[in-house]
Amino acid sequence: MTIFIGGAWPYANGSLHLGHVAALLPGDILARYFRQKGENVLYVSGSDCNGTPISIRAQQEHTTVEEIADRYHHEFYQCFSRLGFSFDLYTRTDAWHHHQSVQEIFLALLKNKYLYKRTVEQAYCQKDKQFLPDRFVEGICPQCKQKARGDQCDHCSAILDPLELEEKRCKICGETPVIQKTEHFYFAFSKFQQEMETYLKEAVEKQLWRENALALTKRYLQEGLPDRAVTRDLPNGIDVPLEGYDGKKIYVWIEAVSGYLTASMEACKKKGMNVEDYWNEETISYYVHGKDNIPFHSVIWPSILLGLGKKSLPTHIISSEYLTLEKRKLSTSQNWAVWVPYILQKYDPDSIRYFLTINAPEARDTDFSWREFIYSHNSELLGAYGNFVNRTLKFIQKAMNSKIPEKQISKSIITTTEEVYKKAGEWIEKGSGKKAVEEIFSYIRYGNRYFDQQKPWEQVKVNKEEGEITLANCTYIIINLAQLLEPFVPYSTQRIRDMLGIKKIEWKHQHTLPSEILHVTPLFERLDLGLIEEELTVLLDGVTNV
Ligand code: MF3
Ligand code: ZN
Repeated sequence: MTIFIGGAWPYANGSLHLGHVAALLPGDILARYFRQKGENVLYVSGSDCNGTPISIRAQQEHTTVEEIADRYHHEFYQCFSRLGFSFDLYTRTDAWHHHQSVQEIFLALLKNKYLYKRTVEQAYCQKDKQFLPDRFVEGICPQCKQKARGDQCDHCSAILDPLELEEKRCKICGETPVIQKTEHFYFAFSKFQQEMETYLKEAVEKQLWRENALALTKRYLQEGLPDRAVTRDLPNGIDVPLEGYDGKKIYVWIEAVSGYLTASMEACKKKGMNVEDYWNEETISYYVHGKDNIPFHSVIWPSILLGLGKKSLPTHIISSEYLTLEKRKLSTSQNWAVWVPYILQKYDPDSIRYFLTINAPEARDTDFSWREFIYSHNSELLGAYGNFVNRTLKFIQKAMNSKIPEKQISKSIITTTEEVYKKAGEWIEKGSGKKAVEEIFSYIRYGNRYFDQQKPWEQVKVNKEEGEITLANCTYIIINLAQLLEPFVPYSTQRIRDMLGIKKIEWKHQHTLPSEILHVTPLFERLDLGLIEEELTVLLDGVTNV
């Protein structure tokens, strides 16, 4: 089986916050899980370095688009590595390979007659002397009457044309823009209305998309897919590869989403693999992102793929709801956010991964609070998981001189373990890491209960054989936990593997025990409860009023 996993491409215009991680983490869980199963996995993403968000930032800081893109791309790369994201390729949209491939895709769509020219009216700011890209126009959403940007309404998810906004204003200077004529390329989304309906019907039947993606896509299709402009007058991005279109760039709808394919091509080229192996009718694909990116993946990208004559439409859409912070909506402009570089400096990546999985916004918004975060580390990771591993291994070290007893593993424990692999695996494949981790943590509690009931410290005194059986069973549970939890908390898993000298891991019940323990180190350290106040103070002190 080949599995393609695409993580959404964050804009390189500011640091990542925990909301990004919450939305993107399911991708890494899937990638690690499928690799462990022995499947062929291709997991790619990159930084979105094109488009207005980056030029707005550059203007604010009086610097260049390149400087901003470089700075944040490097930061993202560091953060993702430190968080343990196991991309096969994490690239950027200003890379040469991406520019080249996107232009080819554009020309292919033109040749297949899904692109056509049209003279359109566009917002033009007379003060700034430029056509305004969608996000540079702000106003009131015609559908829900809330404040909105020209591309999409954050409040009601309507896809907008900037001219539809009421009370339009230029984002740069605040003046009311005028309307002028200019020529652009349109993508014939309307030609795919039928095919998209069939496609959605299948997704509904198979339930492979998150509920929010199904509902929103249903709504878009009911409203009917209009043709839309897919080029823009932008300061930075990928040029329309045709004479007479100076200054016109390919818009994010074609340009950024094509990154999934262009990055795959680049990754395969580097590894000497054939990209077609990951982009065919049989491919299982997971697209992982936050809910504001749903239309990119459920409507726009499938239409482009159909336009290119490719059969590999997204099969799974894993679109997260939002993460709130201390029960308040995240706001980057007010600095109401936990920034990834900050939290990584102070905490174990596994604590972050664990918390954001068990509290993942899979079906509704969930909250990050420092109190819950510190408590979940201390009571679950350290209190349940770490405790089981450390007390078992410490005891073997002390009572058995680090030799792991060679004993038959109890049938009932094997059956329970196999069941955990099956259930957790099914949940992961369905896109619910949360349910999978719940399954695995109840297995940990089962292990702890078993240890408490058997009392190996007493058993070894009265009946050595029985004590040895208990310890063999507990070690068996530990090596299986190291496998089961690898997709979620890979760093602590690695620590167990180091303690026991385990090289290979697989997603199936493992019953060959290592012969000895190499060393024992605490799996997790306790976090001081004083950190809760400390972090809340940092958060509140950082708030700015913009
Ligand atoms: N960078 C864009 C955004 O954050 C596009 C991401 S969607 C993807 O909205 F398809 F490109 F991933
Ligand atoms: Zn709206």
